[in-house]
Amino acid sequence: MKAVQAGRFGAPDVLVPVELANPEPGPGQVVIDVTHASVGLIDAYLRQGLFKDVPGLARPPYVPGLEVAGTVRALGEGVTSLAVGEHVVALSTDGTGGYASVYVGDQARVISTEGHGIDPALAVAVVPNAIMAHAALTGAVRMAAGESVLVHGALGAFAAAFPGIARQLGASRVVGTVRSSRMAAAAATKLPYDAVVDSAELPGALGGETFDVIVDPVGGLVREQSLDLLAPFGRLLLVGNASGDWSHRLDGNRVWQANATVTGFNAGGYIPARPEAVAPGAAAALQAVAAGLADVEVELLPLEQAAMAHERMENHTARGRLVLTP
Ligand SMILES: NC(=O)c1ccc[n+]([C@@H]2O[C@H](COP(=O)([O-])OP(=O)(O)OC[C@H]3O[C@@H](n4cnc5c(N)ncnc54)[C@H](OP(=O)(O)O)[C@@H]3O)[C@@H](O)[C@H]2O)c1
Repeated sequence: MKAVQAGRFGAPDVLVPVELANPEPGPGQVVIDVTHASVGLIDAYLRQGLFKDVPGLARPPYVPGLEVAGTVRALGEGVTSLAVGEHVVALSTDGTGGYASVYVGDQARVISTEGHGIDPALAVAVVPNAIMAHAALTGAVRMAAGESVLVHGALGAFAAAFPGIARQLGASRVVGTVRSSRMAAAAATKLPYDAVVDSAELPGALGGETFDVIVDPVGGLVREQSLDLLAPFGRLLLVGNASGDWSHRLDGNRVWQANATVTGFNAGGYIPARPEAVAPGAAAALQAVAAGLADVEVELLPLEQAAMAHERMENHTARGRLVLTP
């Protein structure tokens, strides 16, 4: 099969096209002919070696990529819920295997998109992230209908899955924040935000509005500011660190005095521990995509250009979701 491999930790140029043997399915596994593989910031973190000491995560040489779309090529022993040729999307929890023409994964994390009429490029860009957003909003912060939600870095790959899922869960209002340079893109977005404000103008841009749930994949300054943007008994959901500010610390005294809850959600640990979260998340994700609640911009690139895709993601020149085609 065609694949891209990270031969060592380092800059994007460690990603090199290679030829590898096709994987065979073990019991409970599904092999997929990949048509689309998405690129996320987590792929860059893993490639950089940022998490090299975390047990269970990728070590070179490895094939990066945790989200694929394609058709079922072969089924392992005991897999009865899928058929060869069926259109699917899959997510891996160890962040490997996606940048290839053939992918093997556990049936528990392979979702049929058959009959939903979803473009596979949009499916891979949105469905895995929307499953995670559903698990985070329902399981981690127990969002209730009628609650308001603020999403930082609102057009980012993971963030973009939240407004559609929040709508489906009955959010009363969903607001996003983006950097000044993204305000024009925010004005054009089809994502179901009631409003998107400039994060450089927080908190003033929100005119005193506070939120029951704040989703933060950005960290740093906006995380700090979020404690003042929570409604009474509000929950701040930490899901990432796109700002790159790894040294930021939250003040526990402020959390205490605000009656706030700060919750972390990390799909890599959450989904294996709560596999039952995948099915309702997938149902909500497919509904959100079909209802046009998750229309993100997708840019296709040949698999061989994985290194360039990482470079563009890291220097913030990607306009929408970057998706590789083997
Ligand atoms: N918890 C989980 O299970 C999970 C799942 C998926 C991803 N993640 C994490 O979520 C984070 C985002 O990943 P992604 O794949 O969505 O990346 P992405 O597509 O690059 O999105 C990141 C977003 O954050 C914005 N941003 C970056 N620096 C910022 C700053 N200093 N201030 C304000 N906004 C800033 C970016 O804005 P620009 O467009 O202007 O660059 C972009 O919109 C990563 O830390 C990733 O590891 C976590």
